[in-house]
Amino acid sequence: MNAPVQIQRDDALSPVQHLWTLCRDDMAAVDALIVERMHSPIGMIPDLAQHLVGAGGKRLRPLLTVATARLCDYSGDAHHKLAAAVEFIHSATLLHDDVVDESDLRRGRKPANLIWGNSASILVGDFLFARAFNLMVEAGSMEALGILSNASSVIAEGEVHQLAALRNIDMTEDDYMTVIEAKTAALFAAATEVAPVITGLDAAKRTALRDYGMKLGLAFQLVDDALDYGGQQSALGKSVGDDFREGKMTLPVIRALAKADASETEFWRKVIVAREQDDLDLQRAVSILRRTGALDETLQMARRFSVEAIETLDPFERSPLRDCLQDLAAYVVSRAS
Ligand code: IPE
Ligand code: IPE
Ligand code: MG
Ligand code: MG
Repeated sequence: MNAPVQIQRDDALSPVQHLWTLCRDDMAAVDALIVERMHSPIGMIPDLAQHLVGAGGKRLRPLLTVATARLCDYSGDAHHKLAAAVEFIHSATLLHDDVVDESDLRRGRKPANLIWGNSASILVGDFLFARAFNLMVEAGSMEALGILSNASSVIAEGEVHQLAALRNIDMTEDDYMTVIEAKTAALFAAATEVAPVITGLDAAKRTALRDYGMKLGLAFQLVDDALDYGGQQSALGKSVGDDFREGKMTLPVIRALAKADASETEFWRKVIVAREQDDLDLQRAVSILRRTGALDETLQMARRFSVEAIETLDPFERSPLRDCLQDLAAYVVSRAS
């Protein structure tokens, strides 16, 4: 098999780490809120939530909320509650996602449902969703509440859309884009749109920041989908090949199918539609995806969205923060090169 896609993890200071240093106090406040609001007298809730939250995660989405709030010169403290809400929404979707996807690794650990069971994971996910709504109400902006609650329903819609399309070999690229925009990019877009809203900036800035989050989210999920075939488990903290085992129609497979000859079409039907897979099939899938250029094309599309994300920030005055947000857009695609 070819060498796995390289993940650059230990750069001197990655844009994610750089953003953390620029927003250190904000992120400390957000983390404190997250810890405080995970609390419940029902011990299973903090135990299970802590298993996921305590494993870290990049905290990319709340970081985007506080960084864009700084970029907007926001001077209040509602962004902390909104950022914590964003991470709670994300955490809830991960708890649910690992049940749906039958994953065996999350953030380098056993997923919570493999320890506490599916019911507990789903219910604690619901609790975190509800806590997110408490925080959004406390933040006191009806508009921000509208944006994040809309994103929450769009995420759920995207997950159901994806479920309905499972093992459907006729899934189109447009359907795929609709799914990833809903399940992933919508939360990134909401995370970056609430900052100009609570600051009261004009519509142009609001649109620009929303578009930045949206394009970044699309690039992020495209890379994630490429890494599900071409990445390394140790670097990802989650298993490689999950999408394949589930029969999920992601862009690499859609592109490979478009170029498949009769024997390859038969292969994809067997592994995706019939879900008959033996030990060597993932390896064969990866080698087809590499040989046909389907993985490269997926990353190429991610790069295009990344460039568009960078451009949407051009109208903002140059600053270390703006540069870092632009670097971040380049970085999410550079982690797979
Ligand atoms: C995982 O998101 C879910 C996807 C949208 C692919 P992240 O890669 O941001 O997960 P954590 O929070 O860092 O673990
Ligand atoms: C992540 O989707 C869940 C949501 C975005 C709601 P995936 O299933 O593609 O992500 P991973 O690979 O499990 O993190
Ligand atoms: Mg999933
Ligand atoms: Mg998953």
